Amino acid sequence: MKPTQSDVNAQDTDGLEGTGFDALVDKALSRRSLLKGGMAAGMLGFFSLSPVAQAVAAALEPSKLIGFAGIPASTADAVTLPAGYRSSILMSWGDPVLPGAPEFDHQGGNSAADQALQFGDNTDGMSLFHFRKADGSLDMNRAMLAVNNEYTNGKYMLAEGEVKNAEDVAKLQAAHGVTIVEVRRTSGNAWEYVKDSAYNRRLHANSEFMLTGPAAGHDLMKTAADSSGTKVLGTINNCANGRTPWGTYLTCEENFNGYFGAPDEAAVPAAQGKYYGIKAAEERYRWWQHDARFDVSQTPNEPNRFGWVVEIDPFDTASTPMKRTALGRVKHENADVLVNKDGHVVVYMGDDERGEHIYKFVSKNKFVEGQDAVNRTLLEDGTLYVAQFNGDSDTHAGSGRWIELSFGKNGLTPENGFNSQAEVLIHTRQAAKQVEATTMDRPEWVSHNPHNGHVFCALTNNKNRGVKEDQPLNAANSRAENHYGQVIRWEAKDGDHTAETFVWDLYVIAGNPAVHQGTPYGGSAQVTVENMFNSPDGLGFDKAGRLWIQTDGNDSDEGDFAGMGNNQMLCGDPETGEIRRFLVGPVGCEVTGLTFSEDYKTMFVGIQHPTGAFPDYQDGGKPRSSIIMVTREDGGVIGA
Ligand code: FEO
Ligand code: CA
Ligand code: CA
Repeated sequence: MKPTQSDVNAQDTDGLEGTGFDALVDKALSRRSLLKGGMAAGMLGFFSLSPVAQAVAAALEPSKLIGFAGIPASTADAVTLPAGYRSSILMSWGDPVLPGAPEFDHQGGNSAADQALQFGDNTDGMSLFHFRKADGSLDMNRAMLAVNNEYTNGKYMLAEGEVKNAEDVAKLQAAHGVTIVEVRRTSGNAWEYVKDSAYNRRLHANSEFMLTGPAAGHDLMKTAADSSGTKVLGTINNCANGRTPWGTYLTCEENFNGYFGAPDEAAVPAAQGKYYGIKAAEERYRWWQHDARFDVSQTPNEPNRFGWVVEIDPFDTASTPMKRTALGRVKHENADVLVNKDGHVVVYMGDDERGEHIYKFVSKNKFVEGQDAVNRTLLEDGTLYVAQFNGDSDTHAGSGRWIELSFGKNGLTPENGFNSQAEVLIHTRQAAKQVEATTMDRPEWVSHNPHNGHVFCALTNNKNRGVKEDQPLNAANSRAENHYGQVIRWEAKDGDHTAETFVWDLYVIAGNPAVHQGTPYGGSAQVTVENMFNSPDGLGFDKAGRLWIQTDGNDSDEGDFAGMGNNQMLCGDPETGEIRRFLVGPVGCEVTGLTFSEDYKTMFVGIQHPTGAFPDYQDGGKPRSSIIMVTREDGGVIGA
């Protein structure tokens, strides 16, 4: 239910309605004094500007980082970009990838076997890996693109628009997972994918994977087909991604629950149902009706083998991808990897569900430049933490701490149902609840600023906030029935990402200032009728430190969302807070997935689940999820 105007007024204690510059400055100053009282002096620099004060600064001095003029919202069935930019299609659902693959049949004639050789559906997170030349330098014209195929649109993929038989399930399974293709620069900054390259690979719901780390081989991981508890078929619901400094791709398994089901509720293991959302009589994909592996009355442990971060070598088609259990089992959005100043590898991750949490993994061993065989074991062993955010819901700032999720600590003991580290990891969500982690408004992508290590996470929206008893308002998630979302950021103590504590604030509070006056539902002050958006999801920094924000929200352009148009992509200046709209997607789509060529002159963006004529609709045909390439007519760096 949308908040009524009186609900909004009841919540709106920020006092920004009808106030001007003085009130904005007052607010920033009061916030500064709060922080001075509560935090170490060394951490204050980060909080010298609140989102409100940032907007004031932005109004006085336009961003030096962002070089294009923001574009208006749009409801057109097209990709819209600023003047001087253009886009073209790299690859769409169904395009042939592996040898022998047929062309996409717009009339729906491709079989499950065809689909296993073609680009999967619903393009999502992706990373580009340049080849190296014989002299060790990067080949700027040749790369491998690893891209997730998150889920499927049965409506367009199946003859009857929904699953009727095992062949239908096989086709959907083949359209999931990851596609890895060679790409080559053609002319200027345009690229094409190389059909039939020996490096191309499809990983889908029936490909072989290995479980590694503390939960591998545990009894809860064993099935009738795999008594070792280490060999899994498939990766599914691969949402966003990560890339490691040692050149591997991370794909993150998100809403795996929707593929499982059972004839009756009694057959669903209690923990799978309560904490991970597995339901009897699941209707979304109906795999369980035609593939016994997804019927939990027959294979109750199979769901434990999903919900992991998976590490893949994008250059070795013979390698077995590794599910890294040390990083926890949740509905993973993405995995933001960095090397801490002491050499430990830190991975930040969001669990995208209403009231779930933000996590951090710290490797046991350290990254060693050039020692990639050793580096490839870093995600097998380490410590997992979950975040607790404390603070003030008026100033939208505070401090926080990372709570260790290790067996025997913080109540993760047999008395509370945890008998080993494997169980803590398989039941990561229960462990996070046990230690009283902060419930968040659906943590989506996390990304760190390469210039200062500040970490940003998109909290996309949460209709349950302040409504369900287990999701009361808190400082970082302070809007009831939050349907606009916010972006939170934090700074590790002393810039040390292994530290237990951090400080945080909100970078932006999305809202609609054309409909609502002031915060909270009008958004923070850098949100204007020119740049407003809802439901931030994809986040990524480029090398220059521009923050790219992609949306997956309400594109009705009505009511609380009037004037926002289709889903879109924006560019934020992390210093001034200014945000400009960069791209608007075609009708019905979500904009998700982002990577760049090494020179940052080609931006690859995912257009997922369009519903109109994009990109090449034919009579009786289908809209297709596609990867687009964005370039500048003058050949310059994107965003500069
Ligand atoms: Fe796959 Fe949370 O988006
Ligand atoms: Ca997403
Ligand atoms: Ca989303």
